[in-house]
Amino acid sequence: MKKVIAIFLAAILIFSLAACGGTSGDTNSKTETSTSETKTGDTSSANNTSTDGKTLIVYFSWSNNTEKMANYIHDKIGGDIERIEPVEAYPEDYNETADKAKAERDNGDRPKFKELQFNPENYDTIFIGYPIWWYELPMIMRTFFDTYDLSGKTIIPFNTHEGSGDGGTYDQIKTEEPNAKVLEGLPIRGGDIENTDSKDKVTEWLTGLGY
Ligand SMILES: Cc1cc2nc3c(=O)[nH]c(=O)nc-3n(C[C@H](O)[C@H](O)[C@H](O)COP(=O)(O)O)c2cc1C
Repeated sequence: MKKVIAIFLAAILIFSLAACGGTSGDTNSKTETSTSETKTGDTSSANNTSTDGKTLIVYFSWSNNTEKMANYIHDKIGGDIERIEPVEAYPEDYNETADKAKAERDNGDRPKFKELQFNPENYDTIFIGYPIWWYELPMIMRTFFDTYDLSGKTIIPFNTHEGSGDGGTYDQIKTEEPNAKVLEGLPIRGGDIENTDSKDKVTEWLTGLGY
């Protein structure tokens, strides 16, 4: 009888230990699951999981030329895309916007933009687009570069203009983000943005970049 009780107690003990082990095992397995999920498909870059080779296209556009260019790029390469929206919208009138933009440039202002849905710091490659304003970057783009540290990222600039080309802005970006790799950008004349020729230029440029 004693032997039966001893076996019975031993069985309870083993069961309890197994149950305990199961509980802690469960906890561990959740951790392990999330860890292994994190690493799935990306074992080479455990602390790089949010980037995962993803591309972001982020752009500022007032009269939508740069937005059209951004959309061509997005149609070709996919990834995430987001427009930089000023907190205080620019006037619809060209002259008023021109005056405001000039004052911002002359004062070295940093106009605020609305919080972005996508954090550029979480991407490996970022296409950054904007129009030329007063021969250079719109000041809101300076705010953008002040906001994000893009060290180690690949930046691919693109812009629209009405005669200034890139206006030296690709070099300005190199100064703003000295630890990023800034690739060859593409300027397109805003008035030509819907021409087949412009679309072809975008395609050729992307092909040259390896897309
Ligand atoms: C305030 C302002 C300043 C501009 N300054 C220049 C300039 O210095 N050089 C230039 O080539 N185009 C200039 N442009 C023309 C724009 O760069 C061009 O129209 C561009 O395609 C507009 O892009 P968006 O439609 O994305 O805003 C200026 C436009 C605005 C509104």
